[in-house]
Amino acid sequence: MRVGVLTGGGDCPGLNAVIRAIVRKGVPEYGYSFLGFRDGWRGPLEAMAKPLDIPAVRGLLPRGGTILGSSRTNPFAVEGGVERIRRNLQNLGVDALIAIGGEDTLGVATKLHEIGVNVVGVPKTIDNDLAGTDYTFGFDTAVNIAMEAIDRLHTTAESHHRALIVEVMGRHAGWIALHAGMAGGANIILIPEVRFDIEQVCTWVESRFQLDYAPIIVVSEGAKPKEGQESLLNGEKDAFGHARLGGIGDWVGREIEARTGKEARTTVLGHVQRGGTPTARDRWLATRFGLHAIDAVHDGNWGQMAALRGTEIVMVPLAEATKELKLVDPTLYAEAEIFFG
Ligand code: F6P
Repeated sequence: MRVGVLTGGGDCPGLNAVIRAIVRKGVPEYGYSFLGFRDGWRGPLEAMAKPLDIPAVRGLLPRGGTILGSSRTNPFAVEGGVERIRRNLQNLGVDALIAIGGEDTLGVATKLHEIGVNVVGVPKTIDNDLAGTDYTFGFDTAVNIAMEAIDRLHTTAESHHRALIVEVMGRHAGWIALHAGMAGGANIILIPEVRFDIEQVCTWVESRFQLDYAPIIVVSEGAKPKEGQESLLNGEKDAFGHARLGGIGDWVGREIEARTGKEARTTVLGHVQRGGTPTARDRWLATRFGLHAIDAVHDGNWGQMAALRGTEIVMVPLAEATKELKLVDPTLYAEAEIFFG
């Protein structure tokens, strides 16, 4: 059997570890050969692929990014795209595909499975907002990077008596902000799921200064004030219709300065959160996902995704995982509120 592998969407620490595990088990145990498709769904669409064998995956475990490249290509937004994919898979002799991605990449995989393509999914996103799995790989690395940044910003905030705002990724879900904010001892955490009141934020900022400390505010890029919308960087949308977000951290900083008279500065962590080597936990999770994905191919478990439930890796239907996003429960957010102000 020949198996195609692709990585789509935003890059994420652990992608290479998944690829390595798939090949390291698939070649000796099942006798499969592998083709790595370039740049997400663009690979099968344009027949851009290269062979993947054991020497090709040596040394990949600690390497960030993806050796296959990635893109946000949506074959369903390209005329005749799906037919081209079918034809290319046939011409290349690819019997099955393993798609490693988030809501968009796996959304495409779900639809391709419905029309008869043999596909298995692996959940990746630093945002951790994919349903069906307790965690996605990449999230732990992003949280640790953000936590370290918060730790470092505490000392500057206190030395200069400033409010420091840290804008983290999280388009629809505040998982990174919540985990990194709690781990880093943030005084305020703002997430997309719960609209915030800027007056309340300013009250917390002032009470923090009264205690002779300087506040750290962690804000997800998708957070929204009570009155108003999410902050867009520009009018651009990707092939899946997502707008580019950015600017909420600056807005919060400006409002704090205007309303409290205290100095406020914003740090936008951006792609630093997605870069570099994965944590041990992400390497472990990515490796286990890869091993179970190739087993699923062997078992003909088409239309399924490897998922973490507790400590077990189980297979869940792609359709279930991509139906809706996994958002932060308000009760979980309420736990963090005890530290606000
Ligand atoms: O999907 C993960 C993510 O990092 C989001 O948190 C963020 O909004 C988006 O990707 C940014 O994507 P890009 O790097 O394509 O601008």
